[in-house]
Amino acid sequence: MTNASATEPDDPRAPLSTSLQTDASFRVLVEAVEDYAIFLLDAHGNVATWNAGAKRIKGYDAREIVGRHFSVFYPPEDIAAGKPQNGLATAAQAGRVEDEGWRIRKDTSRFWANVVITALHDARGNLLGFAKVTRDMTDRLRLTELQHASELSAHVQSALENERASIARELHDDLGQQLVALKMQLSTLDTRARDAHVARQSLAQIDTIIGSLRRIAAGLRPPVLDDLGLFAAIDWLVCDFRRRHDLTIHLHIGGEEDGFDTTASTSVFRLVQEALTNIVRHARASEARIAIVCARSRCTLTIEDDGCGADITRGRAAGTFGLLGMGERVRQLGGVIEFRSAPGEGFRIRVEIPLDHRADDGHPIPSVPLI
Ligand SMILES: Nc1ncnc2c1ncn2[C@@H]1O[C@H](COP(=O)(O)OP(=O)(O)O)[C@@H](O)[C@H]1O
Ligand SMILES: [Mg+2]
Repeated sequence: MTNASATEPDDPRAPLSTSLQTDASFRVLVEAVEDYAIFLLDAHGNVATWNAGAKRIKGYDAREIVGRHFSVFYPPEDIAAGKPQNGLATAAQAGRVEDEGWRIRKDTSRFWANVVITALHDARGNLLGFAKVTRDMTDRLRLTELQHASELSAHVQSALENERASIARELHDDLGQQLVALKMQLSTLDTRARDAHVARQSLAQIDTIIGSLRRIAAGLRPPVLDDLGLFAAIDWLVCDFRRRHDLTIHLHIGGEEDGFDTTASTSVFRLVQEALTNIVRHARASEARIAIVCARSRCTLTIEDDGCGADITRGRAAGTFGLLGMGERVRQLGGVIEFRSAPGEGFRIRVEIPLDHRADDGHPIPSVPLI
């Protein structure tokens, strides 16, 4: 395992090996460590010893790597920038250097490493070589990246909700008010005048436009969600779907809704909205059932239909984000979501979220009044 017996007396590795490897039990301990690559470099940076962790993390056997320069572990761009040599120079000068960065395994794959290089000196202060401890941090890096992605997604979701609310408000406050003003102007016209018919037609047209505007604003963010709460908003949503589509929807709501803060109620509303949109778009169903039951600080939501179903074992199709977004919203609330479906067997979504969101987040989304 070690190169102690393979070194010549004038080899720079010799004093290092002899002086640092006298304690046999310590050597056995270091050699057995699997979670860390722990090895020695001679004063020139050539690998002098190798342990089980080094083999596991970097992929080389001791006989393949001992004697080779340690720059083989660095990516080409780091070698070009002189990073390996600079690391040794800094360690020799300061005693120790720590670094995080990409390193290369034998199979050329990259891993994110935390590396500590410690300079080793003899009693007279002569540099013997370096001890190098490398930890594979790739999993932790991925975890951090995942956390960042999740935070970013939460941020984007809430920015999107705010943006929707603000567009809905603009539609109401600006366009809506202008239309109302126009309507008032028109209605002052003398209805016996020659253009009375045109005026009446224009008034009717304005009413239609106001109706469309109201529908668009409500689609962006229904005012009932902010004014009357989640359960009333879901009721409104279901009525709206019933009215616009040939679909029987059974809705059951049980328990209290006071455990929902703005984020939770918006998320649950959007979940039901996306599920109903999917049923209308994909299911060819005749019936759908929605149940929301809040009990003992948990909310269980199920949405199912009797439609064509889908093969959900095939994974997500490119460009589809509805189910993915549902999962993300539920995860952000600390809940769990389950999709069940197979071709010909309908589609079922079951969500469970904890209701410990009693303290509001302080940023309620402003209410959008009806025109
Ligand atoms: N209720 C449903 N019935 C049948 N298939 C569904 C249903 N809901 C979702 N799906 C299937 O799951 C896919 C992914 O849904 P989604 O992520 O919402 O994306 P999108 O609606 O944009 O296609 C859909 O394309 C559809 O094939
Ligand atoms: Mg969808």
